[in-house]
Amino acid sequence: EAIDTSLKIARAFTKRKKIISVQGGYHGHTGLSLQTGDAKYRTPFLFDSPDFIQVPFNDCKAIENALDIEVAAVILETIPATLGMVLPQKGYLKTVKDLCEKNKSLLILDEVQAGLSRTGKLWAFEHFDLVPDMVVLAKGLSGGIYPITATVIDQKLESVFHKDPFIHISTSGGSELGCVVAKKVLEISANSNFLKKVNTLAELFSSELQNLQKKHPKFFRGIRQKGLMMGLELKDDLAGPILTKTAFDNDLLLIYANNDPSVVQFLPPLIMEQKDIEFVITQLDKALKEAKILHPILKLKTTAQSLFKL
Ligand SMILES: Cc1ncc(COP(=O)(O)O)c(C=O)c1O
Repeated sequence: EAIDTSLKIARAFTKRKKIISVQGGYHGHTGLSLQTGDAKYRTPFLFDSPDFIQVPFNDCKAIENALDIEVAAVILETIPATLGMVLPQKGYLKTVKDLCEKNKSLLILDEVQAGLSRTGKLWAFEHFDLVPDMVVLAKGLSGGIYPITATVIDQKLESVFHKDPFIHISTSGGSELGCVVAKKVLEISANSNFLKKVNTLAELFSSELQNLQKKHPKFFRGIRQKGLMMGLELKDDLAGPILTKTAFDNDLLLIYANNDPSVVQFLPPLIMEQKDIEFVITQLDKALKEAKILHPILKLKTTAQSLFKL
């Protein structure tokens, strides 16, 4: 709903209809947010508006070509998680913001996963030298427990609600209890000592994961990392689902990226203690060993299935 709200505000403010999003990005399964995502989730519900355009991530030229006087906004995740924690290339996000400004379009950043200190700064966009027009928050805003989201807007966009503030309301919209929790989460996340702790954990994970990678170099091929937002690059598309299963068997909850199953999303809790890293790495090591054994067996099975059309 927070994504839908941001897109509604963009349209109302700019009086333009088109929205540009990123191929393989993910912003949710409701109304307008669904339109910004993958065709596989849209087509069953007959969502196919030509006003929603998708471009590849990290491609400035594609954004430049797609921007025209009908574009209300560009929406993207600061670090697209479902695409496999792909890190923005140097200057990409700043260029997108500049192109949007030039075209009088708005830039909406979805920080549902990347925000609230996950990357080692309070907001992930702080790493990339730009300020977006809107930021969307959720999940961690209530510690992931109580449902609350937020559409944070630049003050100029408030004018959308001046004439009639009731043009966007809902029964549970205020989320009074959620606000109490979110206020506390914001207070904790913005604390410099908390951020320092997140960055220390990130450094420790970085070196431990590099060691693990050296131990399993053919299966575990690389690490994508910004703070505690991490992606483990694996051998192939089969490897992500397999590691998800073997990690679960070893008491670790992690999941492969839906739009790039060769990458596993690795998002340890920001509040974890340094002493627990050893446990996580030991279990991940076991999970990797088991995944390496399972991989050829499942590879054979899937190959046989496709060969014999089972
Ligand atoms: C980056 C991002 N944006 C938006 C959403 C949508 O959130 P919800 O499932 O609460 O609609 C998600 C959910 O996983 C997400 O990861």
